[in-house]
Amino acid sequence: MKSVINPLLYAGILAMVPLTAAADSMRDNVLREALLRNGLMPYQETHVETDAALVAAGKLLFQSKDMSLDRQTACASCHVDRFGSADGLANAVGTGGEGEGMQRLAGGGDIIPRNALPFWGRGGKGFDIFFWDGKVDASSGTIRSQFAGSEPSDDPLVVAAHLPPVEVGEMVDDAPHNDHLEGESVEAAQVVYNTLVDRIKARDDIGPKLAAAKGKAVKDLEFLDMAEGIAAFIRTNFRLQDNPLNQFVFEDGSLSEQQLAGGLIFVGKGRCAACHSGPYFSDFQFHAIATPQLGSGKNGFGIDYGRFNVTMRNDDRYLFRTPPLWNVTKTSPYFHSGSVQRLEDAIRLHIDPLAGLSPETMTGEQRVQFYDQLKSWASEPISGVYLDDKEIADLAEFLRLLEFESAEPVMETD
Ligand code: HEC
Ligand code: HEC
Repeated sequence: MKSVINPLLYAGILAMVPLTAAADSMRDNVLREALLRNGLMPYQETHVETDAALVAAGKLLFQSKDMSLDRQTACASCHVDRFGSADGLANAVGTGGEGEGMQRLAGGGDIIPRNALPFWGRGGKGFDIFFWDGKVDASSGTIRSQFAGSEPSDDPLVVAAHLPPVEVGEMVDDAPHNDHLEGESVEAAQVVYNTLVDRIKARDDIGPKLAAAKGKAVKDLEFLDMAEGIAAFIRTNFRLQDNPLNQFVFEDGSLSEQQLAGGLIFVGKGRCAACHSGPYFSDFQFHAIATPQLGSGKNGFGIDYGRFNVTMRNDDRYLFRTPPLWNVTKTSPYFHSGSVQRLEDAIRLHIDPLAGLSPETMTGEQRVQFYDQLKSWASEPISGVYLDDKEIADLAEFLRLLEFESAEPVMETD
């Protein structure tokens, strides 16, 4: 259209555009460029090809309670659509729990001392560190995990999918008849894998589909095939889709004044992009945010040493993988122990950890732990930043631009 406008007339129109609009579009471009510099890419470029037949078989496995030794939990019990592919709980409830969300708290099920992570972008290009403490890590080119050199696959998401089914309390009932499976030995894991694969071979509705997708006979199926199916499903169903931020940056879309203000704080004075960078809004590094701990904690007695549990380096105490932020508006509660319900509070605690502190209700030991966390936090790029309530609300509004839907709904099945 532009080319048919007389150039002189066009200049005249431009001169009539109010100055504020020109300033607005300048701010738009500043934000676009900053997001690109921080590694944002069109969502399509993060996609990794998958095989449709394998994805379909993987979905059946993902939904089935047959994936847990005592047939109590499916992946879909804790990775639920309604809660943005997490579970809506602070600490996840595993074997013995029933239903969804808060219902799971009623049954006395086993408590996992971590907040369930969602799946957005998992298995996309460059997404190669998994779990809060990075216990599956392919960032160096070779995978490091608890398989310690005998990893079943060179795809970190496939390795990650091997872990929940052998985790006592998560998908292996924490009951006396399973005592021989405690401890993270490869032998104990193999016992579980053999049982699960035999079970799936016997399922006429799943076995033949998985076997056909893998081009083998049902009798030759291995647990690896199941993990590959589940990984293919996660990678496809939760991959990044069209979303308002993508439209703004790559399709010349527009933002509200508050979203724009929030975006400029995100890449600017809020320093959010110092850690929440790249196509998934994570630098895939480990950082200390002095967040309150809820529940028993991975290390017991209300303590979670985070990355230290993987590396055993003292400097890694209280560090956690920077969480990706796609769909973060849907995955309350927040942080590794789910100690914070509101998005605004999660943002505020980054810069003002004392805002969440009630020293009078803490034991002396907890106060000492918290002081230790604060020391690690003090060396992070975010310490010393101040944001007022309006700026925090602007940031939360900006994060709403990161919303999109999964490809297909999931549902727990037998
Ligand atoms: C009892 C609830 C529960 C069940 C059942 C469950 N998960 Fe999870 N999932 C979690 C929790 C909690 C975390 C975070 C654990 C951590 O990082 O320490 C998680 C994290 C993950 C992650 C890492 C995501 C990331 O961002 O790095 C993957 C992958 C995953 N789960 C896959 C599965 C699969 C596959 C199944 C089924 C075989 C499954 N989960 C079953 C609760 C559950
Ligand atoms: C120093 C690195 C760093 C900076 C800077 C940073 N974050 Fe974070 N962010 C983290 C880490 C690490 C966590 C997880 C902490 C935990 O679980 O204990 C986190 C958690 C979050 C969460 C909760 C996500 C979830 O799934 O639980 C949100 C929301 C968030 N950050 C937004 C922001 C915003 C907005 C800013 C800017 C004001 C910001 N972050 C700055 C590292 C950082």
